[in-house]
Amino acid sequence: MTEVFKSGGNELPLFAPGLEGIIAAETVLSDVDGEGGRLTLRGRPIEEIAGRMTFEEAAALLWQGFVPDEYLSRLLELFAQARQVAARVVATMQSSPAGLSAYELMRLGLEALPLDRDRNEAVTISGALPHLLAAANAISTGRQVAPPDPSLSSAEDMLRLLTGKIPLPEQAAALDRYLVTILDHGLNASTFTARVIASTGSDMRSSVIGAFGALKGPLHGGAPGPVLDMLDAIGTPENAEAWIAGELAAGHRLMGFGHRIYRARDPRADVLRDGLAPLRGNSENLRKAEAIEKSALAALARHRSNRKLETNVEFYTAVLLDAVGIDRSLFTPLFAVGRTVGWCAHVLEQRATGKLIRPMSRYVPETA
Ligand code: ACO
Repeated sequence: MTEVFKSGGNELPLFAPGLEGIIAAETVLSDVDGEGGRLTLRGRPIEEIAGRMTFEEAAALLWQGFVPDEYLSRLLELFAQARQVAARVVATMQSSPAGLSAYELMRLGLEALPLDRDRNEAVTISGALPHLLAAANAISTGRQVAPPDPSLSSAEDMLRLLTGKIPLPEQAAALDRYLVTILDHGLNASTFTARVIASTGSDMRSSVIGAFGALKGPLHGGAPGPVLDMLDAIGTPENAEAWIAGELAAGHRLMGFGHRIYRARDPRADVLRDGLAPLRGNSENLRKAEAIEKSALAALARHRSNRKLETNVEFYTAVLLDAVGIDRSLFTPLFAVGRTVGWCAHVLEQRATGKLIRPMSRYVPETA
């Protein structure tokens, strides 16, 4: 029987490992319906937003009421300006010790970014990250850092610098679709981290940097690179069944499957899969991914018949980002670029509550 304590006439669980099932914040930003497999952003299903709005338009939607309207109507221009602010910290990033990953370099750039401590911080931080990522990638691979192009959108400019080519419109649209799909997702581990830090009265930059740390773990935002490794290791769909059976028998988890909240299919998986269709020369990869996904789902159903393990966002993230020409080492940093918009919104929402987040631990003395 679950231990409970009484609060305001309600019985609440006294201890929930991993805070599973605990509501720790109220938000107007997004709703994750785990049973129905639905994600709602500011009252609209994700399917109505991703693939139809650009990164800047979706950020303006998410930030309504949190960031002044005069900024929201000019986000394309303000994000372009923020990339130019980011270019001013490239020298600091370049003087860092050798061997840092793109993720670490980007975080270092964020630490050095000039900011005013007002509501505009959300705009500067979120707008600067695409260039910080492009610069971090160039530095970590020993290349010159090219300047940002303010005439382009965030997705176009970032893709141009990451791939070294002017992106085709459908490639930039696919990247926009990805960034919008992962903008916000309830109280996931990194967003919770950002809110905990914000609840102490700390600054937005610290909240975002803390969230960076939570995101990179393989159980959260670190999964898509390993998904691609898994697809490579399987090779052709005919090998899938045996390879997957071997992994599960060895006690390994299949990356890109399972979720704390979703018991149905993660709706973002289909939104991202649909983004693959307009990309030329990609039908074979899509066919292969779909066949492997089918084998994995069948194997997981046999492996854990008491727990519904479905495809999560990371599976088609890997396939889509690979198709637009982004190196797998950049998948997690790119996740951080999109999710920063959500983290900033949660920081602003948390500040408005003014309540310190401070759960309790139960002391369990060691037995001799
Ligand atoms: N492959 C194999 N088994 C799995 C998987 C998986 N992908 N996911 C969960 N399970 C099994 C666990 O081994 C566990 O079995 P057990 O009870 O016999 O020990 C059971 O299902 C429940 O797993 P938990 O870790 O308790 O479930 P939780 O809700 O905490 O985990 C998580 C969710 C971390 C996402 C998990 O499903 C997982 O590790 N998936 C693989 C990594 C991944 O894809 N991460 C990206 C998630 S999406 C995102 O964060 C953006």
